[in-house]
Amino acid sequence: MKKLIVMDHPLVKHKMGYLKDERTETKQFRELVNEISMMMAYEATKDMMLKEVDIKTPLQDTVVQQRDYKNPVIVPILRAGLGMVDGMLQVIPTAKVGHIGLYRDEETLEPVEYYCKLPVDISERELIVVDPMLATGGSAKAAIQFLKDRNVSRIKLVCILGCPEGVEAIHEAHPDVDVYLAQMDPKLNDHGYILPGLGDAGDRLFGTK
Ligand code: URA
Repeated sequence: MKKLIVMDHPLVKHKMGYLKDERTETKQFRELVNEISMMMAYEATKDMMLKEVDIKTPLQDTVVQQRDYKNPVIVPILRAGLGMVDGMLQVIPTAKVGHIGLYRDEETLEPVEYYCKLPVDISERELIVVDPMLATGGSAKAAIQFLKDRNVSRIKLVCILGCPEGVEAIHEAHPDVDVYLAQMDPKLNDHGYILPGLGDAGDRLFGTK
């Protein structure tokens, strides 16, 4: 069941190089996240179910294929996940967008949900949870659990840069959730940052550093 898909495309590799480069400024960083997210949306929807539909072309009757289920829901984990939404929507323009925000309780160290707004029929849709970095996996693991608590059963996790520790954490807690990465880096440092990584994705996206 545990599935990890790491993108293997020269354009993704090329864009990842610029994304990681410390000289890349906020505007270009944002554009790169957008472009990589588009390519990841393409990859993450490859198994989308289709049904046959009868239509007429201007010349004759024919059968075409169309999506079989309700639109998926893109769920960015606040705040860095927001940077991936536009790119995903360019490929899946009819998708809904939900939001989830978590913080870590300083005493218990447990993730606490501080914001969650989702479509009402969420349990009938596939969810694509997005967050650029899969580091310790703590936030994604908790966000996925909070979503499962709302009766969602079909969830994918799409992150741009990951590391083995993060993938392992998700696979252990949620073996049913397919993990998509644009690239995998070798390790985490003692502060939970991916190495070589790209620094703080939220700060680089929003120019807060
Ligand atoms: N979050 C980030 O923004 N960067 C990391 O390297 C790890 C977590």
